[in-house]
Amino acid sequence: MCGIFAYLNYRVPRTRKEIFETLVKGLQRLEYRGYDSAGIAVDGPQKDDNNNNMCLIKKKGKVKALDEELCKKDFLDLEEVFETHFGIAHTRWATHGEPSPVNSHPHRSDKNNEFVVIHNGIITNYKELRKYLTSKGYEFESETDTEVIPKLIKYVYDNRECENVSFSTLVERVIQQLEGAFALVFKSTHFPGQAVATRRGSPLLIGVRSQFELSTEEIPIQYNNAPGSTPQTTPSNDNAGVAGHLPDGVQVRNRQNRKDSAVALHSVGDGKAAEYYFASDASAIIEHTNKVIYLEDNDIAALSEGRLSLHRLNRVAGEEPMRAIQTLQMELQQIMKGNFKAFMQKEIFEQPESVFNTMRGRICFDTNTVILGGLKDHLKEIKRCRRLIMIGCGTSFHAGVATRQILEELTELPVMVELASDFLDRNTPVFRDDVCFFISQSGETADTLMALRYCKEHGALTVGVTNTVGSSICRETACGVHINAGPEIGVASTKAYTSQFVSLVMFALMMSEDRLSLQKRRLEIINGLQVLPGLIKEVLALDEKIKSIADELYQQRSLLVMGRGFNYATCLEGALKIKEITYMHSEGILAGELKHGPLALVDKLMPVIMVIMRDACYTKCHNALHQVTARQGRPIIICCRNDPEIAQNAYRTIELPQTVDCLQGILSVVPLQLLSFHLAVLRGYDVDCPRNLAKSVTVE
Ligand code: F6R
Repeated sequence: MCGIFAYLNYRVPRTRKEIFETLVKGLQRLEYRGYDSAGIAVDGPQKDDNNNNMCLIKKKGKVKALDEELCKKDFLDLEEVFETHFGIAHTRWATHGEPSPVNSHPHRSDKNNEFVVIHNGIITNYKELRKYLTSKGYEFESETDTEVIPKLIKYVYDNRECENVSFSTLVERVIQQLEGAFALVFKSTHFPGQAVATRRGSPLLIGVRSQFELSTEEIPIQYNNAPGSTPQTTPSNDNAGVAGHLPDGVQVRNRQNRKDSAVALHSVGDGKAAEYYFASDASAIIEHTNKVIYLEDNDIAALSEGRLSLHRLNRVAGEEPMRAIQTLQMELQQIMKGNFKAFMQKEIFEQPESVFNTMRGRICFDTNTVILGGLKDHLKEIKRCRRLIMIGCGTSFHAGVATRQILEELTELPVMVELASDFLDRNTPVFRDDVCFFISQSGETADTLMALRYCKEHGALTVGVTNTVGSSICRETACGVHINAGPEIGVASTKAYTSQFVSLVMFALMMSEDRLSLQKRRLEIINGLQVLPGLIKEVLALDEKIKSIADELYQQRSLLVMGRGFNYATCLEGALKIKEITYMHSEGILAGELKHGPLALVDKLMPVIMVIMRDACYTKCHNALHQVTARQGRPIIICCRNDPEIAQNAYRTIELPQTVDCLQGILSVVPLQLLSFHLAVLRGYDVDCPRNLAKSVTVE
């Protein structure tokens, strides 16, 4: 969780006001990652040419509160111009320590703010480090895991054995001591105008905006210990003289180990005027530049004198010694709210287009073929497997539930659908001939990522189904499908669900292409997919009606959502949407289980939504409907158009166009997405930032 943003202008004069605006805007774009407090570190009023005074401003609450706080700091001259300046900013989702200014980032090494740092992730060995540093006289002011990092870098700096140690070398020494996950950006009064950033397990990318042509497509990385690499000949002071003696397995490497240090020989920037942006994700960078470099685990990016260089400690055999400068395809407009009240609402209404984009270029409607480029080279191997396992959390898990039946039908393989956390808790047996799918909008969810690593260790083929190019799950899986839904900003997932759904259906179609007996069924589904975007539009046109239902329900405390078969996942997903943004109690119930317990909840006061579509479960759903009405329940029924029998038994109906049974869930979830949105607005809640939640859950 948490969003990191930092901005360095090198020989591009910017006023303090402009710098504040850039930092605040960057945080606003990342606010979906956490929003219980925010903070920045910038240069304070200058004392003299060399001695920058660091200024930290932190505020509990959303980025807006920080923005207001910045305006109050009248000791800072907003018109002051900086030729070169580095500012860092952070929006937090609390894991260790309550939301408060002192627990917010940036965290600092000492009262003079010699080193400050912003962090996304979790440091698992922070207690040992804190104990050690406390014993050395370092005083901690917060309850966070992060605070050990600035203290540790100061400790390494204070104990250096020679003056010329570089900023990146200090950071390199620090991350050798850290366990857990992190993306970090450092700023220091000892290294004015310089920046160092690094990551392990949490995302981080760097945007470059320059007057000069980015002459190289890739930045090579130099490793001193690279297998087969030539010895380094460039003299450098960089690694000299970092001493340290942390006991009990906590050791800062000293001079003898300097051969392990990496020094980048190549760089971008070359001292020319440029601006650099560091962020947890591309949505905070795209309005400035589309040229970005995604950092990999253990990369250290250093910016000094307008030169960006990449360092790396150990080269793992076979790994790519380059980082490409990539061009983002995302448009700024894609991440703006437009005329909608909330990103979530915008994303619900984008679904005709996002679902279309998921299919674009992948389905040939003339030949009834489906090609998922990221899987085609592995198709033979997948077809030979003994079992498919779909793994995800929350909404992404529901996409697995929604498509299990059609996957079983078209692949004729056993399909397991697993919640990542439970899958790991059970040490589930996984075999070399299993194919494991990791479904994740963000591609960064820690539970899913851990499950991925677990399956890899057991030799299974791993497949990513993500919406975020360059994400950890994308990179660590053997192959995958990018769902192409476009950036999803609202914390409650909507368009990612329908695109995950479509992606998995396309996978099932691709797997069954050569099955003669399945051709009729495949054709029916492909035809259904072709008209799906238009049908979603028809469902969205019911918005007013759904709002009127929300008007009736918004003061209720509880809401049950029932269905079965292809629409069971719709109930789980609808109930999740309702609980997470309206804070009402809501349960998705398998209608077949009604009589085994949940029926006890039903009476004339309990709001019940039932999903009853014309499919193989229709008659069984009718039985459930009668069980509900016999207890004076007044069901609101999501059903197909022109179903008089349903209408007779319903308190209200939401009538949808009918499509192929296995795609109907894409249509039936939309009214529940809309309903949850209207309920949350009527109850006065912030739809995009539900309490206690974050968009990207990078802690287990
Ligand atoms: C619910 C929601 C969450 C996520 C879950 C997994 O609206 O958004 O349940 O689906 O945290 O996130 P990803 O898909 O990013 O792995």
